Amino acid sequence: MEGVKMLNGEKKIERPLRWGVVGGGRTGQVGYKHRTGALRDNTAYQLLAGAFDVDFDRCKDFGKNIGVAEDRLYPDYKTMFEEEAKRSDGIEVVSIATPNFTHYEITKAALNAGLHVICEKPLFFKVEQGEEIKKLAEEKGKIVGVTYGFSGFQLLLQMRKMIEDGMIGDVHMIELRYTHGFGCDALADKKAEGQKWRVNPAKSGPSFVLGDLSTHTFYMSQLVCPQYRVKEVLCDRQSFVKSRAPLEDNAYVLMHYNDGVIGRMWVSAVDAGSMDSQHLRIVGSKASLEFNDWQPNELIYEVQGKPNQTLHRGMPYLDDSCNAYERMAALHTEGLGDSWANVYLKIALAIDAKNRGDEEALKKMVYPDINAGIDGIRWITKCVESADNGNKWVSFD
Ligand SMILES: NC(=O)c1ccc[n+]([C@@H]2O[C@H](COP(=O)([O-])OP(=O)(O)OC[C@H]3O[C@@H](n4cnc5c(N)ncnc54)[C@H](O)[C@@H]3O)[C@@H](O)[C@H]2O)c1
Repeated sequence: MEGVKMLNGEKKIERPLRWGVVGGGRTGQVGYKHRTGALRDNTAYQLLAGAFDVDFDRCKDFGKNIGVAEDRLYPDYKTMFEEEAKRSDGIEVVSIATPNFTHYEITKAALNAGLHVICEKPLFFKVEQGEEIKKLAEEKGKIVGVTYGFSGFQLLLQMRKMIEDGMIGDVHMIELRYTHGFGCDALADKKAEGQKWRVNPAKSGPSFVLGDLSTHTFYMSQLVCPQYRVKEVLCDRQSFVKSRAPLEDNAYVLMHYNDGVIGRMWVSAVDAGSMDSQHLRIVGSKASLEFNDWQPNELIYEVQGKPNQTLHRGMPYLDDSCNAYERMAALHTEGLGDSWANVYLKIALAIDAKNRGDEEALKKMVYPDINAGIDGIRWITKCVESADNGNKWVSFD
């Protein structure tokens, strides 16, 4: 049997992209994931500048400790964009790892400063903002990528291929879940920096878990089943910790897709005892595929009437599109850091294609782009609209 040609960090683009980060400082939850993703391959990005924190002293101390030159640590993003633009070796792409309410203004400023953008989810509060930024990015010739960090698990691409090839028959049901129990601790809403803003509508947006969690799973489902688009949603949302209202800490969503496909999402931060986990189960007329992000090295394939199969990551029997992102080889485990590295690599390749003007190559690339970000905003908006109007079916477009 032939082996699998693995990613080994060798360069895929001419030189690493000069990279800066806004947010993601010492106390930030997600900053290290960004650096893990971008810097895994020494050949994709080079971290050169940061406005890492709302507190400049902490930004400077933290920045020095992670090896950024002191004169490229900035008190805020505006100063960073201005000062970096003056340098011949200034940053050309920026990641935004700040609370939700800041994403729109920082993305807009970054594009206007001539930077490519990699922004956290949920991208912005309103679909119109997403459309406006998409137009601006097109005018400026820049990429806006979204860090749906779980979407780099390569077995999702195997799922995509098997569904496309008819290996589960006609798709009938798209069953999704992203739940954990860490929101059971109501006191954390008052104490934990990263939780305080999440339960404040002015800072988090119109939702809590629908935006914070389910946008990930929703994007992953679109990645594995791109041929099925949501037509309408019906959502019921609850605030089991009452002080969180109107923001939900639990929601159930039903989905209608084209071609009679139906779906269901359960998203929760109050699933007591549950660790953070996402499940995607795609049920077809002949078989089902199931992926769980706690076991990202395995994909379950169940054919009706036959023994179940567990497909293992890194094996030659998987599709090339999946094995193209193999890093560790089948006999070693991979995890979330590898997924982030894949997401960052895909965005680097998209930026490179954009810089070279290779729109044909860009069109074929599968990565979390601005459209995926806008779909995430639409998902939240429509779910909230349905829930707050008596749990009615709401058209998705
Ligand atoms: N993709 C994922 O898997 C994932 C995981 C966690 C969080 N997130 C998203 O990442 C974003 C940040 O979440 P978090 O949990 O890290 O938040 P956090 O509150 O833990 O950290 C925010 C960080 O940003 C800094 N900051 C805030 N405003 C800033 C500004 N104007 N300029 C510079 N720095 C600023 C803070 O000092 C802090 O370092 C949110 O949008 C969240 O939804 C995504």
